[in-house]
Amino acid sequence: MCDRVLRIAQHNESNAVRSAEGDLGFGTIAYDAAFVLADYVERHPEIVRERSVLEIGCGSAALVSIVAALRGARIVVATDGDAELLADLATTNLRANVPTERARSVVAHALRWGSDEQANAALRRTGADASAFDVIVAADVVAVPYLDAFDALIDTFQALSDPHTVILLAYTKRHFSEETFFVKLAQRGFACIALPATEVHADFRGDAHPRLFCVQQRKSIHRDLAE
Ligand SMILES: C[S@@+](CC[C@H](N)C(=O)[O-])C[C@H]1O[C@@H](n2cnc3c(N)ncnc32)[C@H](O)[C@@H]1O
Repeated sequence: MCDRVLRIAQHNESNAVRSAEGDLGFGTIAYDAAFVLADYVERHPEIVRERSVLEIGCGSAALVSIVAALRGARIVVATDGDAELLADLATTNLRANVPTERARSVVAHALRWGSDEQANAALRRTGADASAFDVIVAADVVAVPYLDAFDALIDTFQALSDPHTVILLAYTKRHFSEETFFVKLAQRGFACIALPATEVHADFRGDAHPRLFCVQQRKSIHRDLAE
């Protein structure tokens, strides 16, 4: 990707072991959704160029953050609620794949969904006096293990976005109960549109594969996508 081979270290422990130890779980490997979203950002660099980008639930790979940094984001804040995973593998992967001259444009930061304190601290990492990120990316965070955290996830979207923020989601449908996320999103004032299937990398198309969504605070979605 981005004219280079990316080398992504992953965890030896299984997700099950980490979950049993009290971690949030399922962040030990890079999921298809992360590849699909990273590929989308790679092909649409204008979305991130010179922008502030927040990745939510980046897992061990932080793949979308890496590609956003390589594609010219002003600042990328890669976050996950699993602080150990973040301090260990995500940081290693960011350092290994973002060249020195762009290293200052990406930071890892612990962010548990729903934590205003951590959300505000993430915003301060942008170095600008902004009240929101320009772009938020999140791959495979809408999933059954996190059903109870959907409200908190949307709280974090609300805390860190404004009507101009473009939120890109890569979502792999695995269970009907995940629909509650999209219902809650609409109830909380966000519009959500599915991007055309052709925007998904050809290796990942089909019902069992991730789909891409663009989410924005409702009043602005039509205007901003038309710009
Ligand atoms: C399925 S993994 C996806 C990882 C990566 N985005 C990918 O697609 O490869 C979901 C990630 O969300 C994080 N996560 C789950 N619940 C969370 C919460 N309440 N707050 C913050 N992060 C959370 C997990 O630690 C995990 O890294």
